[in-house]
Amino acid sequence: MTDLETDKGYGYLNKDVIEWLSNLHAKENDAHKDALSYLNNSNNTLEGLPAIQISPLDGRLIEILCRLSNAKNVVEFGTLSGYSALWILKALPKDGHLWTVEFNPDHAKVARSVFNKAGLSEKVTIVEMSGVDSLSHLSSSGPFDVIFLDADKESYGVYADWAVDNLRKAGLLLGDNALLFGELLDDIENPNTINERVKGMRNFHKILSEKFVSTCLLTPEGLGVGLLK
Ligand SMILES: C[S@@+](CC[C@H](N)C(=O)[O-])C[C@H]1O[C@@H](n2cnc3c(N)ncnc32)[C@H](O)[C@@H]1O
Repeated sequence: MTDLETDKGYGYLNKDVIEWLSNLHAKENDAHKDALSYLNNSNNTLEGLPAIQISPLDGRLIEILCRLSNAKNVVEFGTLSGYSALWILKALPKDGHLWTVEFNPDHAKVARSVFNKAGLSEKVTIVEMSGVDSLSHLSSSGPFDVIFLDADKESYGVYADWAVDNLRKAGLLLGDNALLFGELLDDIENPNTINERVKGMRNFHKILSEKFVSTCLLTPEGLGVGLLK
């Protein structure tokens, strides 16, 4: 017998359970170990960067999804220190490539040193510009196998529209923070008053549901997942 909470999974989660599961399923054990633990051991902050990277379990999930997609060419919006990028890079073949978009030069600098430390600089391009401005620039390197959204929530709808035109058939679109920190249904009765982040995230879900075979994984942050139809 399940109640509404346990049926959705979140009733079972607490810090200890998450830590135990992370240690089992998302322990770094290959060439990226040094770079990943460099980030993990820094008490979730690195040279003043905000601790807003994905969790290790999310990282492993994204790695698995990239592997299942036979991903070779991937785009990420929102690099920060390069933590999620390292998980994506683990999934890519030798001739694979990741373009990761970051508009904050301080974040890009840290990510560059992390990729250097991992010996992965040649497989990754940091596109240092705003996500929306990067779109026309990136299109010439497509079509892409996987696109991962983790930058400005206002633009998730714009990124999703771009993904429709720039993913290969059955390419994968992933969007982190799909629950928008609990704000997803804010002002649902008053569409005129909703803010740009809510608009962007709802637009993302709408495009995902219409143009993709889609779902929303109920991770703590929510991960929108869609296979392009
Ligand atoms: C949540 S963090 C990304 C975390 C990263 N994906 C990880 O899990 O390791 C969001 C990043 O997006 C960047 N960002 C925010 N708005 C952006 C925009 N409009 N264009 C490009 N980057 C943006 C921020 O500077 C920040 O580094």
